[in-house]
Amino acid sequence: MKSLREYNTFGIEAQAGNICNISSVEELRELVKSGAFARSGPLILGGGSNILFTGNYAGTVYRAGFKESRIAGSSGNEVCIECDAGLEWDRFVEFCVSNNYGGIENLSYIPGSVGASPIQNIGAYGAEICSNIEQVNAVDLESGEMLSFSKSECLFAYRSSIFKYQLKGKVFISSVVFSLTTREHKFNTSYGQVSERLGPGAEINLRNIRDAIISIRKEKLPEPSEIGNAGSFFKNPLLSEEDFSRLQKEYEDLPFFADGKGYIKIPAAWLIEQCKWKGYRQGDAGVHKNQALVLVNYGSATGLEILQLSEQIIDSVYSKFGIMLEREVNVIPW
Ligand code: FAD
Ligand code: EPU
Repeated sequence: MKSLREYNTFGIEAQAGNICNISSVEELRELVKSGAFARSGPLILGGGSNILFTGNYAGTVYRAGFKESRIAGSSGNEVCIECDAGLEWDRFVEFCVSNNYGGIENLSYIPGSVGASPIQNIGAYGAEICSNIEQVNAVDLESGEMLSFSKSECLFAYRSSIFKYQLKGKVFISSVVFSLTTREHKFNTSYGQVSERLGPGAEINLRNIRDAIISIRKEKLPEPSEIGNAGSFFKNPLLSEEDFSRLQKEYEDLPFFADGKGYIKIPAAWLIEQCKWKGYRQGDAGVHKNQALVLVNYGSATGLEILQLSEQIIDSVYSKFGIMLEREVNVIPW
């Protein structure tokens, strides 16, 4: 058995039957075609920053060891870069900002791998990665054949895609093709805190936006190396206008954001804080003192303790507001 503690940002002590680094897409395809992959009871793991282990994992955990990126095409002020699944996401963002490739700077400092970025359509500070995805390439885990998904085939939505649900466990994402701008960048400073952090009259460029976002994130979110966590534990609920106005009549100070698609997004953190969970701690499992959406492991909490805490939170938010929170984090075993 091998310890998974270093491989999940919650810092949960769980064991895996084996941990295997796959060095190339060809090796992965061979493993699948020979049947060895399926026989080993596989679990795909990237940076382990959106996962909660609630027990040991008897099978083999596979990680993508391929980490290259290459230019896949360019035209006008656009460049397409294909990036292997195993590269750390924020190293790719830094590479883009350093090379003046625009489009993903608002997604700076999100932990995890490139391969996982389409799975929950990572988003932050007014941006979602689906806006820059041209294509997702993957290995079919039954046949070992290569598959390609265009943006529309990925069924992207808020914290969701075909890979998170319909194709979970059926494909191994091997690379992602991103489309980026080389000039006339479309800067996005619409998220209030970003423009505040940049300050009035500040020069706006890819580097300044990246720096501003990193500094906001460092203030607001716990560093997994200091306090174990997986970012937001729950998704923000999307309400119909009718449900929202019913709730707003009772809670006048309820914060909200129109999602532009006919729904109203309300912060799960606010709902959780109203139920008095913010800063709560039982043993080493808790709710972060500055961000009620982030469940934390202060040291030796078990995955089950974190899961039970999340269930208590779901129950209490449901009793008070009639809203059923949905987990964002992948619970293993599911
Ligand atoms: P993992 O946790 O390793 O895996 C997640 C899921 O994807 C698992 O089900 C796994 O089996 C599957 N998977 C992983 N790689 C592959 C692959 N190549 N092919 C097929 N399946 C695969 N998310 C946001 O969207 N926005 C944020 O602002 C944000 N902030 C965060 C802040 C902190 C401090 C932390 C700890 C997390 C944050 N997250 C955020 C969540 C997390 O970083 C993202 O979901 C990230 O994309 C997960 O990547 P990973 O490589 O760690 O995936
Ligand atoms: N709020 C509270 N209490 C809190 C924290 C926040 O009431 O303890 C309320 C405030 O009204 C605040 C609002 O929630 O204005 C929004 O807070 P914040 O800007 O921190 O964003 P969030 O909705 O909590 C989402 C994403 C984050 C992403 C940030 C920034 C989800 C589930 N989470 O958090 O993504 O980084 O916006 O864009 O959509 C993640 O997915 O892991 C993640 C960290």
